[in-house]
Amino acid sequence: MAEQKQHSGGREAEGPRHVAIIMDGNGRWAQARGRPRLFGHHAGAKRVREIVEACPDLGVKYLTIFAFSTENWKRTQKEVAGLMSLFRRYIQKEAQDMLARGVRTRFIGDRVRLEPKLVDLMDELELLTAENDRVHLTIALNYGGRDEVTRAARRMAFDVAAGKLDPRDVDEETLPRYLDTCVLPDPDLVIRTSGEARISNFLLWQSAYAEYEFIDTLWPDFTPEIFAEVVARYGRRERRFGAVLSE
Ligand code: FPP
Repeated sequence: MAEQKQHSGGREAEGPRHVAIIMDGNGRWAQARGRPRLFGHHAGAKRVREIVEACPDLGVKYLTIFAFSTENWKRTQKEVAGLMSLFRRYIQKEAQDMLARGVRTRFIGDRVRLEPKLVDLMDELELLTAENDRVHLTIALNYGGRDEVTRAARRMAFDVAAGKLDPRDVDEETLPRYLDTCVLPDPDLVIRTSGEARISNFLLWQSAYAEYEFIDTLWPDFTPEIFAEVVARYGRRERRFGAVLSE
């Protein structure tokens, strides 16, 4: 391994430290089986657990997943209610396991529109796992990149109005401190499953320099093996970049 790194021009070949995933394709996966869309979301939730578990061995310290967007409210009431119930049950079921497995879980997105019971569970899980450090899981729930930047700008404006922030100090270092992701590094790699090549309002500011991987596999079929392949591809790309730098 060390020798391989030497061949890459002396620059250490690194995998992605922070991977973000747009988990797309649950509906199509269910449809292909003649089942309701929620069946696909339940299958998708099972995958989340496996992918989180795969992170430490792959050197992925931060995993951020897109569970529900600010646009997803436009789905049928039945699907939205089913997803909210799935999130509640997922947190209740996985909390102790996350604690035991060293998973620190955070949520990003606007909580105002979420039902209080779910918000309570989210707060409790964040608190429960706050001391963990093996893998940092961030779940984007009622999240939209534009909404996040807008909320950040609003908070900055309030700080300016309150005399806490000088407008002349607003720069590329200041704004990210107001984002939901303020404690997280930027993603190195963004993966979207299901063959769609769009970013759908996900981590718009944070992904400015990220690598993108659009994978044909539907999310419920996205195995830890496929995840490992995608992560390895990122490492290879980085190694080539290192070689160019050294010439
Ligand atoms: C997109 O597939 C997926 C979602 C909008 C929901 C993502 C949710 C999960 C993976 C389930 C649970 C997650 C957690 C954190 C417990 P889609 O419905 O748009 O699929 P389609 O494009 O095939 O219709």
